[in-house]
Amino acid sequence: MVDQLSLFPDSAMPETTADRGNYIVDVFSAGKFCDESARQALEKRYTPILEVTEKFDRRSVSYQRSKKDVLHSWLKYKEGFSADLVNILLDDMGAVPGDTVMDPFMGSGTTALVCQLRGINSIGYDILPISKVSIDAKANVMHYNIPELEAMIAEFAQLDLPEGYAKATPYITITDTAYPAFNEKYIQFATEWIDQSLFSNAAKNLFRLCVINSLERCSYTSKSGQYLSWDSRSKKVFEANAQRERAGRKLLPQHHCRKVIENVHDAVLEELRHVLSDIRTIQSSSNIEGTASIDFRQNSVLFELPQVGSNSLKGVITSPPYCNRYDYTRTYALELVYLGIGEEAIKEMRQALLSCTVESKPKIEALRDYYQIIGAEDRFDSIIDTIRQNEAFREILLALEKRKENGDLNNDGIIRMVDGYFTELAFVYAELFRVCRPGAMVAFVNDNVRYGGEVIPVDFLSTSFAEQFGFIPQKVYCLKQQKGNSSQQMKKYGRVALRKSVTIWVKPVDAN
Ligand SMILES: C[S@@+](CC[C@H](N)C(=O)[O-])C[C@H]1O[C@@H](n2cnc3c(N)ncnc32)[C@H](O)[C@@H]1O
Repeated sequence: MVDQLSLFPDSAMPETTADRGNYIVDVFSAGKFCDESARQALEKRYTPILEVTEKFDRRSVSYQRSKKDVLHSWLKYKEGFSADLVNILLDDMGAVPGDTVMDPFMGSGTTALVCQLRGINSIGYDILPISKVSIDAKANVMHYNIPELEAMIAEFAQLDLPEGYAKATPYITITDTAYPAFNEKYIQFATEWIDQSLFSNAAKNLFRLCVINSLERCSYTSKSGQYLSWDSRSKKVFEANAQRERAGRKLLPQHHCRKVIENVHDAVLEELRHVLSDIRTIQSSSNIEGTASIDFRQNSVLFELPQVGSNSLKGVITSPPYCNRYDYTRTYALELVYLGIGEEAIKEMRQALLSCTVESKPKIEALRDYYQIIGAEDRFDSIIDTIRQNEAFREILLALEKRKENGDLNNDGIIRMVDGYFTELAFVYAELFRVCRPGAMVAFVNDNVRYGGEVIPVDFLSTSFAEQFGFIPQKVYCLKQQKGNSSQQMKKYGRVALRKSVTIWVKPVDAN
């Protein structure tokens, strides 16, 4: 395990003992059911660099603060973080035009876009095609032909659904009948219209982004983490209830995702007008720094990062999926299907994403094969050995096994998920150490979690992996607002501190 830290000045300590007490975990294993000594050791080791901060808040680590931002509001990506957070971290790392910053989990592209506006190059990955549409659309902001967009919007404003139009947008099982009848047809009609139009590819892509940003509010569904939640006015719930009634079963409760299911034509038109107004504002502003490149690859970071050249990055700003069972391929199913992804391809995408659902299968053998193909078996062996040496990680996996035997886990897939999640993330940490320049700063936003009464300190555990790979842990910023405890876990095991953190690591200046 890593050596004792002696790097941090007293000023890095959280302000008061009372403050700190609220954020430090006293008991990791509810009822002291499992060994928690390695997690206690991590807590002791990294508490000196824990800083309860108002520098970031719940809004800056989430999409909330971007809602009204020009550009960043073009895609409501609930899992995104804010431009404010990226700006603060770019300042902290001292990034200047010409530098390159990476976001290995790009999402809607907040890091890349903020970098671009500051003349900083960026590189990053995401598996979801939604990211590509979003990043392409926003990265082009200075180059849109405004008269062309005005013409596209004017034509779309007059675009009526022809009488007798019989086609409808495709569905997959989990999205079946998600839209009211008019929207179902209109989405398909508008898709054909834009595909067949003579507008430029950039304008067409922007149109698609506006549709993506409208689909949820024009549907009977809402994104609720692990699944799509369904409105009781939908055909799906209606039919399920009819069946339940016949079988004498309790009916599904009345639940409205939103007051009104919007008309998709009006919603898309509103989005188009909104982005056009932002484009006008940005194009006429004079404070955009030169040109900067965005190198976005639509692929898994696990299979791209190993090929990036060493010592090339000024820093990293990112937020991976959290270890919370949220399934992006379910919550974004409407958008994925709209972009032409079918049932099987969505299932494949689910497996390609970082393991963060109970359905995730291990990727370690695929990774081993891949490192072999690129002639980096030694690197693979060394990373995997380092991961296995992490005592806290071993302790957590053993504790979860014991919890499983005791019937405390509501899904056995949780162990596989936690194992895969940290193994895969540790590969990312190891590769980031290699591709960072000496002195580079790495920032990860993440949430701590608890399963079966076992606290997993994601921030400190990740920091311990980072330290094993050579980074200097510099700071763990902890937001004043913590993550809520799930009502089930709280009832069974009591309340516990679950930090929302931004971990900061630095590659030593004398590292090679
Ligand atoms: C928390 S979100 C990032 C949001 C981003 N910071 C933003 O502001 O929009 C995590 C992203 O990681 C992506 N992701 C998950 N597994 C991945 C993988 N193996 N490679 C690349 N991206 C992945 C997800 O699709 C998701 O978009």
